[in-house]
Amino acid sequence: MKNIQIVIGSDHGGFEYKEKIIEYLKSENISYEDIGTYSKDSCDYPEIAQKAAKKIINNEADKGILICGTGIGMSIAANKIKGIRAAHCTDTFSAKASRAHNNSNILCLGQRITGECIALDIVKTWLNSAFEGGRHQIRVDKIE
Ligand code: RB5
Repeated sequence: MKNIQIVIGSDHGGFEYKEKIIEYLKSENISYEDIGTYSKDSCDYPEIAQKAAKKIINNEADKGILICGTGIGMSIAANKIKGIRAAHCTDTFSAKASRAHNNSNILCLGQRITGECIALDIVKTWLNSAFEGGRHQIRVDKIE
């Protein structure tokens, strides 16, 4: 059993969605660690992405959610860490497929490009979707 289920982080461009998603995690009794940022002051997304990724790789957290302005910077940075499969999603189909087929362990969202209700639906879908294994495990193994 990991200490926490979800490590969540954002830069200033994703701060408001981070707070909204935390409200949802609390309402569902999903354990989480908020690794910042803690205000709308400008900060650097790679630092947050690396911190979240390392918590997952070190088995301190099961999965992660990262939000920046577009979701792109966070996904590029997180995917530099071996063992991280960060999925930048703008729709629920991709969110589900990223779990079922790619065993994504980080969800990346863009506060400036995805509406709030859609973003929350993406989070719910991603959290409730499972990896299918089988032929997909073979492919994921090839990534590693
Ligand atoms: C910050 O202005 C912005 O560049 C960042 O949030 C993100 O969109 C980067 O990919």
